[in-house]
Amino acid sequence: MDRREFLRTSGVIAVGLAFPFTPGCDGRGQPLAATANPPANPEKPMPFTLPPLPYAKDALAPHYSPETLDFHHGKHHNTYVVNLNKLIDDKKADGTKSLEELIMSSDAPGPVFNNAAQIWNHTFFWNCMKPKGGGEPTGDIGAAITRDFGSFAKFKEEFTAAALTQFGSGWAWLVADGGKLKVTKTANADLPMRAKQTALLTIDVWEHAYYIDYRNLRAKWIETFLTSLVNWDFVAANLKGAK
Ligand code: FE2
Repeated sequence: MDRREFLRTSGVIAVGLAFPFTPGCDGRGQPLAATANPPANPEKPMPFTLPPLPYAKDALAPHYSPETLDFHHGKHHNTYVVNLNKLIDDKKADGTKSLEELIMSSDAPGPVFNNAAQIWNHTFFWNCMKPKGGGEPTGDIGAAITRDFGSFAKFKEEFTAAALTQFGSGWAWLVADGGKLKVTKTANADLPMRAKQTALLTIDVWEHAYYIDYRNLRAKWIETFLTSLVNWDFVAANLKGAK
């Protein structure tokens, strides 16, 4: 079953549900929404697993340290995986569903939604960064940003404001929504697919994302992310998939 067939037959909304290409996996060794689940076995669902980082743990230094990745990926992200598997074991979540099906069919906020969405958000977020990233993008994504924000500087301003003003824990996003790029922010585990938007880029502004490297300086974290870490190749591929 290919992705198109899966989306059609699963009855879920296609917009914004999937990474347009495979940055990682859904935690079961399957590309996110690219394939159907492994053969369903309600008695013994296949547990979700922590997807590996798409780079070495020291690859983002000095902007994002191995210690931060140890905690953020190895502890925080992993905890969401452990929690979701426990909910499946306890029959509080349907272990035959894909990650995206769990996100879209569960009460938000709620334990199943929170843990499933945070697995999706973090897997997406790791792919939004790369060594020697950041700066101003060129090509289609650069043109789309200029078209919809006026300039890259204006986009930066809007994205920074969203990330900075997200009160408490959450995420700032660049999304495609009805053929137009927009900046949004979400609280806690919430994510664009619930608003039928396609995620293109995100920054994690939970304190656990930046406290080891930046302490309380969220603004410095955001500036460094935009200047030195954004993987515009990933964003460009997401935009291509959104068309
Ligand atoms: Fe996080």
